[in-house]
Amino acid sequence: MAHRSGYGLEEVAEVAPGPLWFQLYHFNDEVTEILVTRAKAAGYKAICLTVDTPAPSPKERDVRNRFVRVPEVHWGRLRDRPDLIALRDVGVPDTADWNPSRYTGLTWSRLDWLRSLTGLPLVVKGIRTVEDAALCAEHGVDGIVVSNHRGRQLDSTRATIETLAAIAETVGDRMEVYFDSGVRRGLDVLKALALGARAVLVGRPVFWGLAINGEAGVRQMLEILRIEFDRSMAYCGRTSVAQIDRSLVTLPCQCWVGADPIPVSTVYSRPRLATQSFRRADHYIGILSLTEDAR
Ligand SMILES: Cc1cc2nc3c(=O)[nH]c(=O)nc-3n(C[C@H](O)[C@H](O)[C@H](O)COP(=O)(O)O)c2cc1C
Repeated sequence: MAHRSGYGLEEVAEVAPGPLWFQLYHFNDEVTEILVTRAKAAGYKAICLTVDTPAPSPKERDVRNRFVRVPEVHWGRLRDRPDLIALRDVGVPDTADWNPSRYTGLTWSRLDWLRSLTGLPLVVKGIRTVEDAALCAEHGVDGIVVSNHRGRQLDSTRATIETLAAIAETVGDRMEVYFDSGVRRGLDVLKALALGARAVLVGRPVFWGLAINGEAGVRQMLEILRIEFDRSMAYCGRTSVAQIDRSLVTLPCQCWVGADPIPVSTVYSRPRLATQSFRRADHYIGILSLTEDAR
């Protein structure tokens, strides 16, 4: 359930059959406290703090299209607290009224405070470096989402798929690693799991499904991903998710630079401006071979 949902936390909890996470943007302590406390009371199972949006990021297409948010929808989750809305607590970060002086950011040490508000597991979304992943682990975070918002906030950052394996290796079993930004096919899911993700998230495809056919469209989108994922597993000779391992994916730069393969971590730590999308990084990845069993 997104922080910016047009519906209240409780409204969503009433109709959602599965376990829910509450995705939080922290803008000030008071609002954060109110929202996460409400999330816990409504039965949410985890708090997912998005950390990759520290400043506004105007969407050029929205500006061109003169897109404006409908206030009643935008403030859905705080409908019953007009006083907080008046504070412009979460601002409309795409507009000029976003006010950094009202932003009291979280620091690593304050994650303890956030966790203490509910005791729920804490997932940090928007991690894209090994260093930040390690810090999350040190600070007792329960899970991370390796995500670049799929370039929605800042263009030209690294493709998340490029850092996934190194991040997963670094954190080991200290916390769960999720992955998003550019997952479009079931095969993308397989690659991410092979590189160390426990699960993937999808963003835009949800909206595409909704636009085509509402709830049924979203179900269909998920079903397409599931079918493609099953097929990809079959082609790799895998009959269960537990069998998906690192051997299914190769990073060609590992094999092709000189006679000696370069360790993955070296490749990843090279400073570079990469594409921001998973899809455009596809050429780094290929499914190498079928297993002996599959042959
Ligand atoms: C229209 C739109 C709104 C989004 N709003 C949020 C948000 O409120 N909070 C958040 O953490 N991520 C948000 N995201 C980012 C997604 O959670 C996700 O990281 C990203 O879309 C994944 O990439 P994908 O769209 O390629 O699947 C949004 C993405 C889109 C397209």
